[in-house]
Amino acid sequence: MDKITVTSPLLPPLEELTPYLEDIWQRKWLTNSGHYHQELEAALCEYLNVPYVSLFSNGTLALITALQSLGLKGEVITTPYTFVATAHAINWNGLTPVFVDIDPDTYNLDAGHIEAAITERTCAIVPVHVYGMPCNNEAIEALAQKHNLKVIYDAAHAFGVTENGQSVLNYGDLSILSFHATKAYSTIEGGAVVCKTLEQKEQLDKLKNFGFESESVISQCGINAKLNEVQAAFGLVTLKHIDDAIERRKGVASFYYEKLGSVEGIKLLTPEDNISWNYSYFPIFIDETAFGKSRDELFSLLKENNILARKYFYPLVTDFELYHSSEQEFPCAKKVSEQVLCLPIHADLSTEDMELIVGLIL
Ligand SMILES: Cc1ncc(COP(=O)(O)O)c(C=O)c1O
Repeated sequence: MDKITVTSPLLPPLEELTPYLEDIWQRKWLTNSGHYHQELEAALCEYLNVPYVSLFSNGTLALITALQSLGLKGEVITTPYTFVATAHAINWNGLTPVFVDIDPDTYNLDAGHIEAAITERTCAIVPVHVYGMPCNNEAIEALAQKHNLKVIYDAAHAFGVTENGQSVLNYGDLSILSFHATKAYSTIEGGAVVCKTLEQKEQLDKLKNFGFESESVISQCGINAKLNEVQAAFGLVTLKHIDDAIERRKGVASFYYEKLGSVEGIKLLTPEDNISWNYSYFPIFIDETAFGKSRDELFSLLKENNILARKYFYPLVTDFELYHSSEQEFPCAKKVSEQVLCLPIHADLSTEDMELIVGLIL
C-alpha cells in the first residue's frame, strides 16, 4: 500500500510548464533577476496584495537576509513553537533569540508575555504565524511602537492568508515566506521577503546578490540567495492553480471538522470568521486522558498503517541543546508540542484516504 504523506507538492500540469522552459532555453538567461523572476515578483505582489516582493532561494535565507537588512544588534524575541529555521536565522545574524511562551488557543507568540521579556538589549520581535493562523498583530504592533522595536514576521506558513480582507503580510516591518515543496504554494525551494517600501526591496535585492551596488561596487556584506529562472517559471505556472488547490485543501479540512469536531479529547484549529485561511496544515491536539490514547500512540498507529502524520512542532526549539536554558520554561508550548499531530492535508488527498485516516483515529 502506498504511504499517505502529511503533504504532497502542488505540481502544475507538465505541459503548462514546457513552453516556459522552451522560452528560458531560447533566452539563455538562467538566473540573476531574469525575465520570469521579475514576472513572478509582480504576479505575487498582485496575488498577495502587497507592495513589494523580493524573491529568495529559500525561506531561511529570506529571513536571515531580512534581519541582516535592518542592521539589528542584541536580543530578538521569538517563539519556541516553530520550525528551527526561525531561531537559526536570528542566530546566524549574531543576535540572541529570547523565547516567550505561546497563546494556548492560537499557538502563536503570546503578546501578553512579550513585554516582560523586553530588556534594553531587545531590538526586534520575530513572531511566526504558525500553521498560517495570524498572530495577535495589533497587540504586537502596539508593543513594537511603545518600545521602538522592529517586527519581522516569519510568515513561512501564511501564503495568501487574510484577516478582515487584508493580507497578514502587510503587518510589521518585513514578512518572509517559504515556497518549499511542502508548503501550500511552492517554487520547489524558494522564499520571499515582503517589503513596504521600494528602498527596502532594493536593499534586499542587493543583499541577496553579494551586495553588488553596480558592476564594480560592493556596498554591503551580501550573500547569494537568488531564485533561478526555472523555479520562477514553475512558480508562475503554479500560481494559476493555487486557488483551486486551497479550495481542495479546504474540502479535506471540512471532512476532518465534520468527523473529528466533536470527539472527546481532540482539539482542532478552526479559523475565526474574519480569517481567510490557506489550510496549509491540519493540526489536532490530543488530550490523552480524555481521548484514551496518547499523541504518540496515535502517531504510531497511523504509521503502522502507512499514514505519515507529523509532530509539528515537537520537540520545541528550546528543547534542542543549542537553544536550551535550564532557567526557562514554556509550559503552554511544552504541553502543545506534546499533544500536537498534523494530519495529512493536500489538494490530492482522496476521500478513501481521508476515511481511512479518520477510521483509525476514531
Ligand atoms: C516557520 C518556518 N520558518 C522558516 C522556514 C524555512 O523555510 P525554507 O524551508 O524555505 O528555508 C520554515 C520551513 O519549513 C518554517 O516552517
